[in-house]
Amino acid sequence: MSPDTRWFLTGGGGQLADALEGLLDGEVFVTREEHLDLRDAAAVTAAVQAFRPNVVLHTAAYTDVDGAERAEEQARAVNVHGTRHIIDAVRGTSAQVVSFSTDYVFDGRKGAPYVEHDEPGPLNAYGRTKLAQERETLAWAHGTVIRTAWLFSATGRNFVRTILAAARERAAARIAEPLRVVDDQIGSPTYAGHLAATVVEALGEGLGPGIYHMAGGGACSWCELAREVVALAGLPVEVAPITTAQADRPAPRPAFTALTTERAIPQPPCWQDGVAAVMDELLDTR
Ligand SMILES: NC(=O)c1ccc[n+]([C@@H]2O[C@H](COP(=O)([O-])OP(=O)(O)OC[C@H]3O[C@@H](n4cnc5c(N)ncnc54)[C@H](OP(=O)(O)O)[C@@H]3O)[C@@H](O)[C@H]2O)c1
Repeated sequence: MSPDTRWFLTGGGGQLADALEGLLDGEVFVTREEHLDLRDAAAVTAAVQAFRPNVVLHTAAYTDVDGAERAEEQARAVNVHGTRHIIDAVRGTSAQVVSFSTDYVFDGRKGAPYVEHDEPGPLNAYGRTKLAQERETLAWAHGTVIRTAWLFSATGRNFVRTILAAARERAAARIAEPLRVVDDQIGSPTYAGHLAATVVEALGEGLGPGIYHMAGGGACSWCELAREVVALAGLPVEVAPITTAQADRPAPRPAFTALTTERAIPQPPCWQDGVAAVMDELLDTR
């Protein structure tokens, strides 16, 4: 991208936005620094029209899957209405709006990795709001949707950090009880740092409007992911498989949502490389 690009980055402080921010050349407007709430249409319009972005990297979202199940309207207010406010604000310009979406737009019944043209069918409220966000984005002539999955980074709330903290606690207290982790949901874990670099590379190559899948290569269960984290941390903690039914979470989860692509676009490295990269960061800051 040109060093003159003007980037409007939503979701600062979030996993993906933080990873993207350090990679952007040019002027960057970070919504969090300006205390911009995407639910406030007038404020979004004023901020976008004052900054005049070439590209909006729209990473902000209501991302609590179980929270959305209990409060779908709150999730919709951010994911759907917030996105509409951005699109309304760039109308009349040629700004590209890049929205990030999720493997949870699929029902998980395909039995093979999902490609971009597969039919969505979300099972939970979060997935419904993200699918509606995709449609808002694609209604814009310069709208790009990047679907990713199972994001983790060295900051924020994510599965890798939760497992590392739980395993450290067990090891320190010499608790013999295993960590019990769901083994019948399969997905494509993605390191936010790898995704951010891939997004910037793809935009540099001229990624246009449409839907694209970008996720860590390969697939695994949450239990396998947890075992990888515990092994790399060198902790003497057993990780035992449980079923989705035993986990008893408020939001239903799809069983198999590995993502792959049918497009000639850059892809992040495999999920194991992603875990190795984040563990390097996490173990360094111990
Ligand atoms: N996390 C995953 O596993 C995952 C998987 C697939 C796809 N995705 C998608 O990838 C994107 C990035 O996810 P992420 O993990 O980086 O998210 P994240 O860490 O949860 O960060 C989301 C950011 O959005 C901000 N935000 C929420 N409501 C807002 C509002 N009303 N106005 C302005 N900002 C608001 C949050 O700010 P506060 O903290 O101040 O609320 C936070 O900074 C999202 O579109 C998400 O749906 C995520």
